[in-house]
Amino acid sequence: MRQHVNPLSINFDEIERIPSLIEMFHDSKLPLHLDIGCAAGEFLFDLAFVNTNWNYLGIEIREKLVKTAKLKAQDKEINNLHFIFGNANKIFNDYQNIFLIKNLRSISFNFPDPWFKKRHYKRRVIQPEFINILSNYMQKGSLIFIKTDVKDLFHYMDITISSNFNFKALDKKDFNFSESFNPNKFQTNREKYVIFNQIDIFERIYIKI
Ligand SMILES: C[S@@+](CC[C@H](N)C(=O)[O-])C[C@H]1O[C@@H](n2cnc3c(N)ncnc32)[C@H](O)[C@@H]1O
Repeated sequence: MRQHVNPLSINFDEIERIPSLIEMFHDSKLPLHLDIGCAAGEFLFDLAFVNTNWNYLGIEIREKLVKTAKLKAQDKEINNLHFIFGNANKIFNDYQNIFLIKNLRSISFNFPDPWFKKRHYKRRVIQPEFINILSNYMQKGSLIFIKTDVKDLFHYMDITISSNFNFKALDKKDFNFSESFNPNKFQTNREKYVIFNQIDIFERIYIKI
């Protein structure tokens, strides 16, 4: 399977219909966490299994991974977990899907593709337009989590989010993880690899003010 797909390719212009929260989750009133670029969703499976008082949604641009994750969630009868295939940027450019952002308690960008060359920066999932959408529609007090092992990408994401006056960086030590979707409990696949290889991780949490 291809590791990197170009999100700007016309293959991703079409967006699948995004189901309503009632269609996606057994209890649509539970707090919602969204993971962007969730790959096969193992991190979300771990969380959904333990935190049954949260709903978890993953968006991933590699269709095969999403198909497999959806089947696995059905098989295991996990009803607080759902996956959507598509380019997250395209999905949220469509006003019909803004209800998801309005209902979020938190959103994570775990080890997004770095796209090292400057001419490829437009392919990065965190873009000023995306952050503006989050800033316009996320509820006050909701959170953005970013994590990467690429220092330059961290600075790029940090500047992009911090230049929006509606988001304030939180110090991890002042943050009460037990009141959140508790991302500290589990590692993503990339995170496991990075920790095993003793590579530095750069992370930050932002709150909508
Ligand atoms: C480096 S992987 C990290 C996967 C996982 N979050 C982890 O930490 O192990 C980045 C993931 O983001 C997905 N991705 C990249 N751009 C995307 C976009 N615009 N919309 C949705 N998913 C995207 C990629 O296909 C890939 O699965």
